[in-house]
Amino acid sequence: MAHSKVNNVILQAKSISKTFGGIKALDSVNLEVYQGRVNAIVGENGAGKSTLMKVLTGIYQDYDGQIILDGLEVTFANPKEAQNSGIAIIHQELNLIPYLSVAENVFMGREFVNRLNLIDYKKMYSETKKLLERLDLNITPRMKVSNLRIGQQQIVEIAHALSLDARIVIMDEPTSAISEHEIKVLFGLIRSLKAQGVAIVYITHKLDELFDIADSVTVLRDGKLVDSNSIEDVTHDDIVRMMVGRDIKDFFVKADVTKSKEVLSLRDMCLAHPRREGDYIVDHVSFAVKAGEVLGLFGLMGAGRTELLETIFGLHPKNSSGDIFLNGRRIKINSPTDAINLGIGFITEDRKLEGLVLQMSVAKSISLASLEQTERFGFLSSTLENRLAQDYVDRLRIKTPSLKQVVENLSGGNQQKVIIAKWLAINPKILLLDEPTRGIDVSAKNEIYKLINELAKAGLAIVMVSSELPEIMAIADRIIVLSEGKQTAEFSPAQATEESIMRAAIPKSFNKLQYY
Ligand SMILES: Nc1ncnc2c1ncn2[C@@H]1O[C@H](COP(=O)(O)OP(=O)(O)OP(=O)(O)O)[C@@H](O)[C@H]1O
Ligand SMILES: [Mg+2]
Repeated sequence: MAHSKVNNVILQAKSISKTFGGIKALDSVNLEVYQGRVNAIVGENGAGKSTLMKVLTGIYQDYDGQIILDGLEVTFANPKEAQNSGIAIIHQELNLIPYLSVAENVFMGREFVNRLNLIDYKKMYSETKKLLERLDLNITPRMKVSNLRIGQQQIVEIAHALSLDARIVIMDEPTSAISEHEIKVLFGLIRSLKAQGVAIVYITHKLDELFDIADSVTVLRDGKLVDSNSIEDVTHDDIVRMMVGRDIKDFFVKADVTKSKEVLSLRDMCLAHPRREGDYIVDHVSFAVKAGEVLGLFGLMGAGRTELLETIFGLHPKNSSGDIFLNGRRIKINSPTDAINLGIGFITEDRKLEGLVLQMSVAKSISLASLEQTERFGFLSSTLENRLAQDYVDRLRIKTPSLKQVVENLSGGNQQKVIIAKWLAINPKILLLDEPTRGIDVSAKNEIYKLINELAKAGLAIVMVSSELPEIMAIADRIIVLSEGKQTAEFSPAQATEESIMRAAIPKSFNKLQYY
């Protein structure tokens, strides 16, 4: 029985168009979603992927075209109706409520109640625990979401989607913030969902994943359908060509940069665990970075990479210890303001933390921090603001209808570019980058690598955290591996192999991954 259901079209988008204030985000797009298959969708930042998914799940109701489910036309008045029809979505921009627990988030609006009609927390916790176990996420269901790392939040979103027992599961960049091990677990789950006849719609910028997990791939460009193919019929290069509409010839090649003096150096940096006494999240890390150097930090989720950057940036003054030297002089950094005043920039992995920026225009977001000084002399003109912003919009190819557009309305990848631009405009001497290319498409990634290289050439010292091995191997002058908060290896890119880096990254006992 179940078998006859496999490989049928379950959901169909017919000639879908959607505009935002005169701008066409989708232009007569057709899509067929098959049961028991992973239907991948790719395209550059701003191509319309998330918008199409929002049309299919009742978030946008004002579109042209038809949605056909099980052969019948449907219109969803709201997301709940799509959910009731068996469609679940994992959103690219995580939608969890920070002050609620993991379990409350997973079962929001569908709480279990007991005979007295009170919320049955026991059941909610035990059901959540089962889901988290399936996903191999070692956190307790009672934990507040605000205490979770972005990658852990992504897994909680996945748990929520699984809990719906949907027939169609849409995943909008589910692996953008999780690392190798979690991706393996997720792929295992996707395979078992497939075997049960569930249709998966899978969006990613990590094109290599497609050959691992996808059955078909649909390419969107500028809101239009380019083509849909069976994965066996296309190569990586074919997909890139369809995405960008041309061959990418000038792929990033790292230029040699002369390194001069040490700019930043750390000695025995520690970050104590907030609750487990004697335990460290960052455990006696020491290294130095020179002007012109790109230092890559690699580690699995929970290795302490983000926390190390946060500690340098003055975000944990109470729990941290160790010495920081700037140009050979010992300094104290007790707050992000201290760090910024010393010329340190920090591009975090969490877009939502950059909160404020989302409500502002592209021009304001990029220029605000850097133009504060000029304002003191009384000439913060919008001309100046616009000139600066336009320069970065061009350099990073930020896709926006105008400089006045509110950042929140840009596609996910383009929001990330605005944040990068904002920090670059501050002209830092030291730049801390945490997963700077998360959610960024292939060609824009290429641009960002070139930019990082140029910044190094201009004399910046750069520390970059990345979970993507090929990325870190391409761009770093030196790679330091962290595992369970400790430095476990250091490589030059010439010595490093993906295997040797991974070996240094894997904790001694896998169960001891430092989720907290
Ligand atoms: N709420 C909105 N208001 C105005 N414009 C929007 C809104 N949402 C999306 N857009 C625009 O629609 C286009 C498609 O955006 P969408 O988010 O679908 O892209 P995407 O393919 O998901 O990109 P990414 O890979 O960066 O996530 C973009 O030009 C974007 O700026
Ligand atoms: Mg998107």
